[in-house]
Amino acid sequence: MNSNSKRLIFGGLILSFFVYSYFVYTSGTDNDKGVHLINEQSKRGKLLFQNYNCTACHQIYGLGGYMGPDITNVISAKNKGPVYAKAFLQGGTPRMPNFHLNEKEIDELIAYLTYIDKTGISPIIDFKINYDGTVGQK
Ligand code: HEC
Repeated sequence: MNSNSKRLIFGGLILSFFVYSYFVYTSGTDNDKGVHLINEQSKRGKLLFQNYNCTACHQIYGLGGYMGPDITNVISAKNKGPVYAKAFLQGGTPRMPNFHLNEKEIDELIAYLTYIDKTGISPIIDFKINYDGTVGQK
């Protein structure tokens, strides 16, 4: 092998290293992770979520109690949403206690749930293996 073809192979490997690194470090970075939704209102919602121990019955990202459903994506789920979630918080149900929250507290909890909704998907219903070996949602 002459030194020209060695240089060509070496150059090609270096180039592919940079191209591959570019894709590894930039793929998925433009996903909306809800950072812009962290504000005073959603922070107070988080405190309420902790004070009322919602997680005793509900899961976020699949973690928590199992008496109620996973509420990670209740805000964006089909046929659900903020108004739907609000109804549960306003009145409770025979199985979920009525916490007698005021409108401000309910809006804070909804703001928190709206933020959570953007941070992940749970439960993962269907997934696929991407061409580069990473796992994504179908
Ligand atoms: C004692 C258990 C319990 C606690 C504590 C509880 N919930 Fe629930 N929640 C439930 C159950 C059970 C349901 C399902 C509705 C039903 O079966 O009555 C539910 C339903 C919901 C729903 C609708 C979910 C869906 O996908 O249909 C939301 C939103 C919700 N709860 C939010 C909250 C929040 C926020 C808190 C804390 C302030 C909370 N819950 C505390 C038991 C609980």
